[in-house]
Amino acid sequence: MSLPSTQYACVANVDVEGKDLSSLEQVPVVLPEADQILVKTEAYAANPTDWKHIVLKWADQGCIVGTDASGTVAAVGSNVTNFKVGDYVSVFIHGAYWETPQCGAFAQFCLADQHLAIKYKKPLKHVAPASGAEHIPGGPVDSFESAASMSLGVVTVSLSFSHFLKLSPDVPAPAGKIFLVWGGATATGILAIQIAKLLGWRVIATASGKHHDSLKKLGAEACFNYGEANVIEQIKKYGGEDIVRALDTVGSDTTIQQTHDAVADSATALVDNLLFKKASEVKNLKANVTITASLSYVAIGLPVNLRGGLVIQTSEELVKDFRNFMKWSVERVSSGDIKHAPIKILPGGLKAANAAMNLLKEGKTSGEKLVFVAEEY
Ligand SMILES: NC(=O)c1ccc[n+]([C@@H]2O[C@H](COP(=O)([O-])OP(=O)(O)OC[C@H]3O[C@@H](n4cnc5c(N)ncnc54)[C@H](OP(=O)(O)O)[C@@H]3O)[C@@H](O)[C@H]2O)c1
Repeated sequence: MSLPSTQYACVANVDVEGKDLSSLEQVPVVLPEADQILVKTEAYAANPTDWKHIVLKWADQGCIVGTDASGTVAAVGSNVTNFKVGDYVSVFIHGAYWETPQCGAFAQFCLADQHLAIKYKKPLKHVAPASGAEHIPGGPVDSFESAASMSLGVVTVSLSFSHFLKLSPDVPAPAGKIFLVWGGATATGILAIQIAKLLGWRVIATASGKHHDSLKKLGAEACFNYGEANVIEQIKKYGGEDIVRALDTVGSDTTIQQTHDAVADSATALVDNLLFKKASEVKNLKANVTITASLSYVAIGLPVNLRGGLVIQTSEELVKDFRNFMKWSVERVSSGDIKHAPIKILPGGLKAANAAMNLLKEGKTSGEKLVFVAEEY
């Protein structure tokens, strides 16, 4: 296909006072580097990290925003062998990041690392019109809309499970042992429940009561309401010393403490979280518990500098662990074994990016991903 020289993209407004988080502007179409693919986008999903990068000034003014998109491959870099022009894909991109201003998902064309992309064996189609709100129930990925919702979450869980929680699709889960997902109804938690179950773990989760039935259908054998005062007591009574792995997908001071408190008291237990919480922040740290924090962006193999002294390192071992696991995850997504979360479609094409980021910023999402669809400009 012949590529245009310019395109529309949502770019960060770092000076947010009185402005929208992003503006739709014309920017150049940049050709892929050796390990990148260029994707002609069809749908986009919003994530909390999108607005955080702008508000916390991890973006510079004008960086392209967005982490999740789906579409078809429009060009490939010289090292790319697993993707060809025309393939149906979803991609995870470190959008709104000051070091790579040209990389962001909320654009008509986006650049993505080949190792953080998911290729779909069957063609994807559109199921939502470009305008008009619509809900898509969770299920196997079969559309651009559902594919857009997958990549960041699948990369995040693959990195957390493989490198930090020391799990492998090649090693059977220990009999009877339990994996706790704190925040089972987060977009990440919905994937973590399914993946832990597919690995053979008994899975339990915390979530609001309205999500318990749907999370049980995805593989959780028991769910606990995190709003109840004795939730830790309930979880410990249920799982006791068998709870030896946990992922805190919420990552607040409270939830990392709760997750730590809920796992085994003497059996070796690994607890990972997604928001930089360290063991030193946990009160009365149990000697049998290891606390880690994973950041999906480092799966690409480069350190991430979130300014203000927050530099997250990576390693060859981390990348190797991630890529092995990610291969397995991609197969399971493509086969439909790993299902997408329920989706809410926002109208307005790329212009919906601001509405989506605001809803996430205000904590107005519950058990669903916000997706918007490409339009002509
Ligand atoms: N480190 C990384 O690489 C990485 C990757 C992805 C996301 N994240 C971060 O992880 C967090 C979650 O992201 P997401 O997109 O998965 O979330 P999300 O879908 O936006 O999360 C919304 C859900 O959070 C749940 N929740 C809120 N407070 C809770 C609590 N105290 N206990 C249990 N559940 C609670 C709510 O559950 P109910 O509806 O049940 O009330 C709600 O459904 C964000 O802060 C995000 O920035 C980090």
